[in-house]
Amino acid sequence: MSDASQAMVEARGLGKDYGTTRAVDTVSFKVARGEVVGFLGPNGAGKSTTMKMLTGYLKPSRGSAFIGGIDVGDDPLTAQSKLGYLPESAPLYDDMMVLDFLEFAADLRGVAKAGRREKLKGICERCGLLNVLGKDIGQLSKGYRQRVGLAQALVHDPDLLILDEPTSGLDPNQIVEIRQLIKDLGRDKTILLSTHILPEVQATCDRIIIIADGKLVADDTPEALTEGTAGATIQIVVKAKAGAALEAARVMALLSNIPGVRGVANAEAEGPGTLGFALRAAGDVDPREGIFNTAVSNDMVLVGMQRRGVSLEDTFRRLTRGEKEAARA
Ligand SMILES: Nc1ncnc2c1ncn2[C@@H]1O[C@H](COP(=O)(O)OP(=O)(O)OP(=O)(O)O)[C@@H](O)[C@H]1O
Ligand SMILES: [Mg+2]
Repeated sequence: MSDASQAMVEARGLGKDYGTTRAVDTVSFKVARGEVVGFLGPNGAGKSTTMKMLTGYLKPSRGSAFIGGIDVGDDPLTAQSKLGYLPESAPLYDDMMVLDFLEFAADLRGVAKAGRREKLKGICERCGLLNVLGKDIGQLSKGYRQRVGLAQALVHDPDLLILDEPTSGLDPNQIVEIRQLIKDLGRDKTILLSTHILPEVQATCDRIIIIADGKLVADDTPEALTEGTAGATIQIVVKAKAGAALEAARVMALLSNIPGVRGVANAEAEGPGTLGFALRAAGDVDPREGIFNTAVSNDMVLVGMQRRGVSLEDTFRRLTRGEKEAARA
């Protein structure tokens, strides 16, 4: 069933209603084996609800979830044996010592006893827990509790990790450490993680899925969501070929007609005889080839061209506020 070509995670028309609240509308996406995918969305978008359905802890109102080809609704235990899950608020036992708790988690997961303690210590080392093994979980700081939550998700050495805000509530140093750990884990595991920290996704993820109001609004690489996207700007500087004239209004009109250009504004030139323009990209076609060709066929020399992508934050805001704004318009 679970060959390498199969999606590690698949949400197929997945949705959840709580009474009249539509927490997740209908969401479909796949995560391939080995991918590290960021799952983004504003508060209340439905990230945790989706993750709970994927991990078999919540029954969907519609659609299905698959883990390594196993239908989670049909066979939740087999699906769960393939994944480690860090829930939004990890249920930890405050009066248990770290290592005892992990032994307990390993029992629940049916991990064989032989050689188990060594394996658990290996996980603790990876999660930076060696110096707190004998402490009660209740005495640990938020960051260390989060590490225990991660370690708990790893006890059965799953191929897939589903992590709901693994760095929430951590200080900047701990965020960097946990991010490094996730990167490290991503080398041999498939990871789906939700977070509100956008630089974190850019630093760790191969792909980004964004949901808003329970609907999928983006599923693309970090590069595509920032570089090639609507709103990117291209700054150009042109000068007239010897003997030709250069008239700003005419050049602007020419540039506005290039496919993939949404708007043109004056921008800084480079000195006498040159004109500068800032072009706003529409996001559907890369306008750079058109800019070059337009310059050549209109007796202009393109002395500079620079593209500036938008930040992931810009893209996130555009995609996740768009719907409400469109509804108001
Ligand atoms: N048990 C529940 N009963 C009723 N409504 C719920 C329940 N759990 C979640 N919701 C609602 O479902 C919607 C999605 O919530 P969810 O927790 O999945 O969002 P989220 O994207 O994880 O948000 P956050 O970024 O704040 O963690 C919200 O409107 C929330 O109020
Ligand atoms: Mg959540």
